[in-house]
Amino acid sequence: MPEDFTKHTLVSPLDDIEAVRTIFDKHGSDVAGVIIEPVPANNGLLLQSKEFLEFLREITETYQSLLIFDEVISGFRVAAGGAVEHYGIAPDLCTYGKVIGGGLPVGAFGGRAEIMKMLAPGGPVYQAGTLSGNPLAMACGLGRLDCLEKNSLWKKLDRKTSEFVGTVTNAIGDTPAQAVSIGSIFWLSLQKNCPARAEDISPESTKKYADLFKKALDAGIYLAPSAYEVGFISSAHSRDELTTAAKELGKIVSSVCR
Ligand SMILES: Cc1ncc(COP(=O)(O)O)c(C=O)c1O
Repeated sequence: MPEDFTKHTLVSPLDDIEAVRTIFDKHGSDVAGVIIEPVPANNGLLLQSKEFLEFLREITETYQSLLIFDEVISGFRVAAGGAVEHYGIAPDLCTYGKVIGGGLPVGAFGGRAEIMKMLAPGGPVYQAGTLSGNPLAMACGLGRLDCLEKNSLWKKLDRKTSEFVGTVTNAIGDTPAQAVSIGSIFWLSLQKNCPARAEDISPESTKKYADLFKKALDAGIYLAPSAYEVGFISSAHSRDELTTAAKELGKIVSSVCR
């Protein structure tokens, strides 16, 4: 990233009210917006306290800057209404991807009418692209969302994921490791305390993950090839497959973390 871009951005640690307050104390009137994944899932699954997210809503309102939720991963996974619905916090803008395309490439954003009215033809901001509103991707995405809704898949996926993580947790026992989840997203954290910030992920845990990945693959379980990637439970995973995989994973986690 060129410095010419990054010089306009201030980075704060996650889940840290004081750090954000300090930035606003110093630069408040210049802060155009705060962008956060409300369910940070791009660097492990770093679950934020609701208090922190509510604080972001309050401070951005106070300073009249925008609160922008990046729901590219959490959107349509955590709930039909994503993290916005899960936490009951309304940002000014939201971005979406992944699930909304049902497997085809789509990105979308939305937000308060006042802001969306800024887009052409009503307003001066022109947003366009060769594949913007691509009919195939739109049809596929709508079909996917329809299917999720009609078959109550969000509820089923939530239940399946909680059961999966519960079985892994039981199998892990008192090993210093955790299985965490929200909606259909799960993550294995190979350290004693589950981190809420990227810098709290211990380098040792990422080494242990390499071992875990190989052993899991040998046992027929294909995890993402990075300790920082989360996993997703799908409607195609059967209960039996999930139970078998969870018990096996728990055993492997115990063996690599002892
Ligand atoms: C959280 C998050 N935000 C934004 C993006 C970028 O999305 P796109 O590749 O659709 O621009 C990604 C891509 O993986 C992502 O995981």
